Amino acid sequence: MSVPAADSAFSKDRPFPSLITENRLLSRPGSAKETRHIIANLAGSGLHYKAGDSLGVFPTNRPQEVSELLQRLGATGDEPVMLPKATAPIAVREALTSRLALSGPTRKIVETLSTKAADAGEKAKLAGLLAPESKEVLTAFLDEREFVDLLAEFPSARLTPQELVDHLRRLMPRLYSIASSPKVYPAEIHLTVAVVRYATNGRDRVGVCSTFLADRVQVGTTPTPVFVSHSHFGPPEDGAKDCIMVGPGTGIAPFRAFVQDRVAGGAKGRNWVFFGDQHRATDFLYGEEWEQYVAQGQVARLDTAFSRDQHLKIYVQDRMRENAAELWAWLKAGAYFYVCGDAKRMAKDVDTALHDIVMQQGGMTPEQAADYVKQLKKEKRYQRDVY
Ligand SMILES: Cc1cc2nc3c(=O)[nH]c(=O)nc-3n(C[C@H](O)[C@H](O)[C@H](O)COP(=O)(O)OP(=O)(O)OC[C@H]3O[C@@H](n4cnc5c(N)ncnc54)[C@H](O)[C@@H]3O)c2cc1C
Ligand SMILES: NC(=O)c1ccc[n+]([C@@H]2O[C@H](COP(=O)([O-])OP(=O)(O)OC[C@H]3O[C@@H](n4cnc5c(N)ncnc54)[C@H](OP(=O)(O)O)[C@@H]3O)[C@@H](O)[C@H]2O)c1
Repeated sequence: MSVPAADSAFSKDRPFPSLITENRLLSRPGSAKETRHIIANLAGSGLHYKAGDSLGVFPTNRPQEVSELLQRLGATGDEPVMLPKATAPIAVREALTSRLALSGPTRKIVETLSTKAADAGEKAKLAGLLAPESKEVLTAFLDEREFVDLLAEFPSARLTPQELVDHLRRLMPRLYSIASSPKVYPAEIHLTVAVVRYATNGRDRVGVCSTFLADRVQVGTTPTPVFVSHSHFGPPEDGAKDCIMVGPGTGIAPFRAFVQDRVAGGAKGRNWVFFGDQHRATDFLYGEEWEQYVAQGQVARLDTAFSRDQHLKIYVQDRMRENAAELWAWLKAGAYFYVCGDAKRMAKDVDTALHDIVMQQGGMTPEQAADYVKQLKKEKRYQRDVY
C-alpha cells in the first residue's frame, strides 16, 4: 500500500542517517518474546510522516557472521569485489556487512560448490543433493542453512570472494509500522519491534534488522539509515468517525499512533482497541498507556486476549465474537475497522470473524455479508496492514 513519498531530501534511495535515541524492552522478564520500543530521531531530516505510515530501516549483518565467512573464504576482508550494476569495486567485508544478504542459499551455490569440491566425500554429498529425485531433500537442506553453513560443510570447495558475492542477494531494508503520531512527536518516530532469534542446523540464527536495532545500534551514536514509507493505511480523516482497531502482538504499533493522533487532534469519534498476546503479566505492550487512555475516556473500549493465561487459547477474534452485537452497532453507525499484525493466520481469522458477525448480527446470507464487507473496503472503512 505504498504511495509516493512527499518532497524531502531523503528517501529510500537516499536514506536519512537517523540516531536511535531509545531502545527499551517492552516485554517483561519471563516473556517468551523480546519486543522492543525503538525511537528514531528525525531532527534535521525534513522528513514528515503520518499515523499509518511505516519506517524503512537499512540494517547491517552481524560482524561475527561476516568474520566467519571471510575466514572460511581465507580472505582478509580487503579484497575488492564488484556488485551488480556497480561502477567501482568495494572491499568484500563492506559488501558482506551492509550490501548483501547472508541467508537464503539456493540450488545455484550447491551447483557451484559441486564443481569446486576437491574432496570425494563432499563431492558425493553435493551430487546427492543435486540429483533429480532429491528436490525436496535439497529444499529442506537449504531451509536449515545460511551461506556460512555451506562453506563450513564443504571446505574443500574453495570460492574466491567474488565467487561467493555473485551468489548473494541484495540486503533489503525492512519496514516497521510507525507507533507514534507526528502531532505528538514531530521530530521522532517510535517503533515496536519483535526481535527474531531462533536456531536451525545446530546454530543460533537472528533476524538481520530486528537484531540490528536491538543489539548492534548504539543508542545516540550509530547512524541508522531510514526512510519513511508512506501508506494509504491511516485513521479516518473525519475525526467524528469511530475506529475499531485489531492489533495483536506488534500489530498494536500503528494503533498507538492512531490513538495518539486522534487524541491530540481532538477527534470526537470513539476508539475501540483489541489487543492480544501470550501473557498479560509479560506481554501487554504499552499496557499502562492503554489503561490510562481508558481511564481518561479516550479509548472507549479495550478488549484483551491473552492467549496463554488460561488452558484454552483466547484470541482477538474470540473477543470480537463475544462483543458481536456492539461491534455490529459500531459498524452500522459508520465505524472504520482496522487490522494490523500477522498475515498468515491472525488476519485471515479476524476476517472470517468479521464476516460471521456481519452475517449473524445483520441477518445476512454469506453472500450478502461478503458484499457488505467488500463495500466496507471500497469505502476505505476496512483497512489492513499485515505482514
Ligand atoms: C508493512 C510492514 C510493517 C511491519 N511492521 C512491523 C512492526 O511494527 N514490528 C515488527 O516487529 N515487524 C514488523 N514488520 C516485519 C519486519 O519488516 C521484519 O520482517 C521483521 O522485523 C523481521 O526482519 P529481520 O530482518 O529481523 O529478520 P530476517 O533476517 O528477515 O529473518 C526473518 C526470517 O527468518 C526466518 N525465521 C524467523 N523465525 C524463524 C524460526 N523460528 N524458525 C525458522 N526460521 C525462522 C524466516 O524465514 C523469516 O522470514 C513489518 C513488515 C511490513 C511489511
Ligand atoms: N511464522 C509464524 O508462524 C508466525 C506466527 C505469528 C507471528 N509471526 C511473526 O512473528 C512476528 C512477531 O509476532 P508478534 O509478536 O507480533 O505477535 P504474534 O506472534 O502474532 O502473537 C500475538 C498474539 O496473537 C496470537 N495468535 C496466534 N495465532 C493467532 C490467530 N490465528 N489469530 C489471532 N491471534 C493469534 C498469539 O497467540 P499464541 O502465540 O499463544 O498462539 C499471541 O497471543 C511478526 O513478524 C509476525 O508476522 C510469525
